[in-house]
Amino acid sequence: MSTGRFITLEGIEGAGKSTAARFVAEHLRGLGHTVLATREPGGTPLAERIRALVLERGPEPVTPVTETLLMFAARALHVTNVIAPALVRGEWVVCDRFTDATRAYQGSGRGVDPALIESLAHAVHGALNPHLTLLLDLPVTEGLRRARERSGVASDRFEAEAVSFFEKVRAGYRGIADAEPARVRTIDALRPLPEVQAQVLAALRPLTRGAA
Ligand SMILES: Nc1ncnc2c1ncn2[C@@H]1O[C@H](COP(=O)(O)OP(=O)(O)OP(=O)(O)O)[C@@H](O)[C@H]1O
Ligand SMILES: [Mg+2]
Repeated sequence: MSTGRFITLEGIEGAGKSTAARFVAEHLRGLGHTVLATREPGGTPLAERIRALVLERGPEPVTPVTETLLMFAARALHVTNVIAPALVRGEWVVCDRFTDATRAYQGSGRGVDPALIESLAHAVHGALNPHLTLLLDLPVTEGLRRARERSGVASDRFEAEAVSFFEKVRAGYRGIADAEPARVRTIDALRPLPEVQAQVLAALRPLTRGAA
């Protein structure tokens, strides 16, 4: 049995992660792989409940550290109960956001100590890191425009953030891509969809070649 591969999609709101994730899953299925498509925060029944907690806009302030702990609490469930077992079964896992989102949003965006994030990442998923991460990169204003065109007014606690917050998140993501060029492929997400898909296919090719 061939071993599974773990592919994640990252980027700011409206960058096209979910659109690209569906495309990746369909492409891999077309190659004959069994694909588990999932997302974060969430991906298990309990983790989806944590997602609802962390995204809801309520009166009580949520500190950046609380947000970070909730993200990793959800991730611990997701990794243990869904992602790791699927990879052991030889499936390919396509995940819409993973730990890079915590690094970018809670770390770069909200100023949470990167050492805390890396310590939690180590505790929660140790050596399990994505084989490939597709970073959908585009200007913040275009991402927010697409997200709001799709879902109307800002709907969750993150979408309600200011442009300056997402500029920090975007810079955080680009820093990760610069630091880990072998794992993270940056996709120019401003391009029309067929061109984005062509970039995605090119990024997948090293992984799909020879992994029948
Ligand atoms: N390359 C593209 N060009 C133009 N529009 C696009 C492109 N890719 C996706 N879109 C559109 O932009 C909107 C946002 O895309 P999508 O939902 O995939 O983004 P996302 O990164 O998953 O957003 P979120 O962070 O809010 O989940 C959708 O309406 C989608 O159809
Ligand atoms: Mg999405």
